[in-house]
Amino acid sequence: MKPFSFLVVADPHYFAKSLDAYGTAYEEFMDFEQKCYAETAAINDAVFEYLKNQTRADVILFSGDLSFNGEKASHEEFSQKLKDLQDSGKDCYVVTAGHDIEPNPFAYDEEHGRKPVEGIRFEDLYDYYRDFGYDKAIAFNQKYLSYVAQIADGVRLLVLCNDSPEKRNVAYTDELMDWAKEQAKKAKADGQIMLAMEHYPLLAGQPILQLIPDARQKNSRAVIEMLADNGVHVCFTGHMHNQSINVTETPNGNKFYDICTGSIIGCPAYMRLCTLEDENTLQVTSIPVPEFEWDTKGKSGKDYMQDQFERMIRSMITGMKDNPAKLLGKFGAGDKKALFGPVKKIGKAMSTWSVGKVARLLCVKAAPEVRDMPFLELAIGVVRYAFEGDQPYVEGTPAGNTILKVFGRLKPVFRILNKKLHGSQGETLDFYELLKHSAGNYGISDYEATLKF
Ligand SMILES: [Fe+2]
Ligand SMILES: [Fe+2]
Repeated sequence: MKPFSFLVVADPHYFAKSLDAYGTAYEEFMDFEQKCYAETAAINDAVFEYLKNQTRADVILFSGDLSFNGEKASHEEFSQKLKDLQDSGKDCYVVTAGHDIEPNPFAYDEEHGRKPVEGIRFEDLYDYYRDFGYDKAIAFNQKYLSYVAQIADGVRLLVLCNDSPEKRNVAYTDELMDWAKEQAKKAKADGQIMLAMEHYPLLAGQPILQLIPDARQKNSRAVIEMLADNGVHVCFTGHMHNQSINVTETPNGNKFYDICTGSIIGCPAYMRLCTLEDENTLQVTSIPVPEFEWDTKGKSGKDYMQDQFERMIRSMITGMKDNPAKLLGKFGAGDKKALFGPVKKIGKAMSTWSVGKVARLLCVKAAPEVRDMPFLELAIGVVRYAFEGDQPYVEGTPAGNTILKVFGRLKPVFRILNKKLHGSQGETLDFYELLKHSAGNYGISDYEATLKF
């Protein structure tokens, strides 16, 4: 086969220019939001301009959450953007996801605060996106908005959607699993390489995300085995807005890679450029989102989005200290008065203590390079890099060594957790290893990698 290149864009979360996103209630919402909101049209404009003018790849995949929250106006404008891009000669393929059919989409202005706007139904998605996959598919399953497209000579794309008219992010039905398996088998019989795309990650982006049920496709192990044992060794995903590449092997010895790409409208804001070199080799690189037209107060787009991410983490930590009731309310625990005191204490410690002080309390020695660093800054860094990928806090670095000493000290607590807590899909967990590999990246680079199937 000839090498084949394509681009991947995840979670564009487009919010229509005609809708409002400003005011006091909007700012309060943004205190706890990882991604940009009012800026999304400007960021998407810049990305689409880049996609149109670049000459590296003519095929572009969009791995779900196309609209901010399912606003009808956002779908109208975003599908027009796809049309313009496709008219310019780029071949676009989409999968839709939960945020494209949110039942109660909203906007913000100063007068009304949060206000409802018109949404769409699952059944409407076909009309908006039929030109960007469904109608050019060689196999289309309209009930599940899933399809197979011939994206190059010898290369097919299997696109799977796990929403239904009633529910979002559900386990695949036996019917859809059988359909997908049949398509994978057919591709193999036809001598085609098959790649997959779905919105939800099949492998947790970072080990810690195994604890969060919504961070992965339900019943993901069965989907991985169905794909990898039938010749599909890679799936492009999004959803968690993190940048990661993970690998596993099925009991039959078949490799499977999950390539999760971050949202273009939030830190770390990268796209992917991938090249299938031959039947067994995929080259993956990452491309930063270009600068966009917005008053970023002199900051680069990257720094601007990073600040929004850190604003969210900072709000949570200072919220623990200043208003535990309000913060716990955001997680549905606003009535758990017994938690207010401890949460307040932890928040105060996290906001004011140094790394050295936290380490001393646990009877370990912090590395001199990070001893005086505010603990809050290190905590923000650890959380941010868990999403950004290629986490730098590895063994052998001052911060990494200090973090590992602290984790080591907490091993008795972890031993209890290992027995009590399991991954959201029933996995046995080793909390020391889980936290070590979430704070530091020891495996494949999340940005630049050559993957062998
Ligand atoms: Fe998303
Ligand atoms: Fe999502």
